[in-house]
Formats: sequence, structure tokens, C-alpha cells
Amino acid sequence: MPPPTLLVCQNTACRRSGAAKVLAAFESRLGEASGVTLIGCRCLGQCGNGPVVLLLPEQIWYRQVHPDEVPMILQRHSCQLSWHPDGSLEDGSLKPE
Ligand code: FES
Repeated sequence: MPPPTLLVCQNTACRRSGAAKVLAAFESRLGEASGVTLIGCRCLGQCGNGPVVLLLPEQIWYRQVHPDEVPMILQRHSCQLSWHPDGSLEDGSLKPE
């Protein structure tokens, strides 16, 4: 299975709804060694429901995401993302600051 990828739309409508803060919240939680590819992407075609987040390869959508909901999203998918709420990775190492 391809590695997990989180797409966070950064196109105009989503940015007007706070997508930059959503992307920043994912960046700060995941760290660089998470094994998750985090992409601030172009329009995902759900402009009326921004900020929009799409988890691949499962194709799980989140709409109207608030930055405060980012930990809940990561926790819900911690198995797919090899990510743990305490900041450690699946191999037990801690993510870099
Ligand atoms: S602007 Fe974000 S889905 Fe279109």
C-alpha cells in the first residue's frame, strides 16, 4: 500500500476559511519524520466545504476542518499514519522538535 498522504487544500476558498492554520496545525503535530506526506494542495473540488482535508490512499474526506480538530483526525487515523498522540512514532522514537 502506498504511504499515507494528507492533502490540505490551500486554494482561495479554503484559505478564506482558515486552511493555512489547518495546514500549520498538521505540520506542527506531525513533524518531518512521521512517515506521512503532508501536502498543501490546489483545489480538491469541495470549495463550499472548506477547509478540506483528504487522506490518501483511503480517500477519507474531512470538511470544514478547524485547527483544533487536527489532533482528533490524527488520533482517529493513528494506525494508518504510524503516528501516536504523545508524539512518538510506531518504532518508539520521538518526532524531532
Ligand atoms: S478551494 Fe479548497 S476545495 Fe476548492
